Amino acid sequence: MQPLPGFRDFYPEDLAFREAIRCRWRAVARRYGFVEYDGPVLEPLDLYQKKSGSELLEQVYQFSDRGGRLVAMRPEITPTLARMVQARHRDYRKPLKWFSMPQVYRYERAQRGRLREHFQWNCDILGEESLEADIEVIALSIDLLRSFGLGPQDFVVRLSDRGVWTKFCERHGVREEQRYSLFQAIDKMERRPREKTEEALGSLAGPVFRLIEEGEPWEPVERVLAGLHARGLGSFAERDYRVVRGLAYYTGTVFEVFDREGTFRAIAGGGRYDDLIARLGGDPMPAVGFGMGDVVLGELLREKGKLEARLPQPDIFVIIAEEEVRPSAIRLVQRLRDLGFSVDYPLHGAKLKKQWERAEALGVRHAIVIDVRAIEGMVEVREMASRKSRTVPLEAVGSLLQGSATDIGEESRTARMHGLSAGEQLP
Ligand code: HAM
Repeated sequence: MQPLPGFRDFYPEDLAFREAIRCRWRAVARRYGFVEYDGPVLEPLDLYQKKSGSELLEQVYQFSDRGGRLVAMRPEITPTLARMVQARHRDYRKPLKWFSMPQVYRYERAQRGRLREHFQWNCDILGEESLEADIEVIALSIDLLRSFGLGPQDFVVRLSDRGVWTKFCERHGVREEQRYSLFQAIDKMERRPREKTEEALGSLAGPVFRLIEEGEPWEPVERVLAGLHARGLGSFAERDYRVVRGLAYYTGTVFEVFDREGTFRAIAGGGRYDDLIARLGGDPMPAVGFGMGDVVLGELLREKGKLEARLPQPDIFVIIAEEEVRPSAIRLVQRLRDLGFSVDYPLHGAKLKKQWERAEALGVRHAIVIDVRAIEGMVEVREMASRKSRTVPLEAVGSLLQGSATDIGEESRTARMHGLSAGEQLP
């Protein structure tokens, strides 16, 4: 039996890699003052019918539940965020700076960089209309990639504004209801032969290509570029009017992040959506944000050798030299775990050689040997790297190792588990 196409099994080493990414997402979001939220995996289908845009609707996993409700597995989290904010925004000071890391589901043709489930880091600022918010979220997406050691030679933010195309539509008499298909044709143009795009655009093909090729400055885009420049991030972004975004709700700034060589699909995408919350029936509220998936990001990091996630290792392996001292050994294991150490030991009697091999293979810093000396309350503590051993009283083991142990403390332990070193300096 295989998993369904486009769905992944996460063996421990895969999960370590995935969690290293998620841990970094969370750390960089916190650095920008974002707080985390989440919503339901299953939502009323209606939420997406009204909000996302028809392309995404074709990809929704939908069914009726046992109560006869039409439901959907979330293909994105922005409509959920809009619903949550609309319901309770009065409880929070504006602007809201919120992030989430949901698993989302889309029935796409599974291919490189596109699966039917992925984890998507979403960072959104709500209740702030100034372009500073647009700059802030774009800078955040750049800094996430910089934190892995990627530079302007590795990726680029392609920046545009829906306003460019709205003005174009007004000038060329493109009616409201035709605009979405125009945006779709522009959004797809890089993945299609030029003739196909020309065919889809009809008489607008000439003007569309001219606008893209000439790339005349558009004030809000220039201001965002200047804002990034002021932060020293100017080399990471470029004006590019081919970016319109497939989703229907964007109203202003739109951007997508790509690898420089153009090998992969988009690493991230987002923009401003000032009408979405009002469309859900709430007070109008400006909003801007982006989503970054784990799939393309993971492929890029692997290709560039920027992330090697290690499996979490225990701190200590307890060697049980004779079965009759097992009860003392188990008591020690329990005590050390209570003290916050990660401890492993043989679950059944085994030859000493095998136990030492296991300790080596686990990569522990210390092994503790429990043998007949335990009857007198003494144990041997060996530092694996130096192979130096000390015989110490059982009760002293905790404090002895506490001093020489790597950390400890929950945050750094979690970071280490996820392949980051404690107190890691991010650029
Ligand atoms: P999106 O462009 O549809 O935007 O998705 C954002 C990112 O999610 C993409 O750039 C890509 O990295 C990843 N992604 C999307 N679909 C797949 C897939 N099938 N397999 C793997 N990765 C995928 C949104 O979803 C917006 N809601 C983002 C947003 C937040 N806009 C404002 N706030």
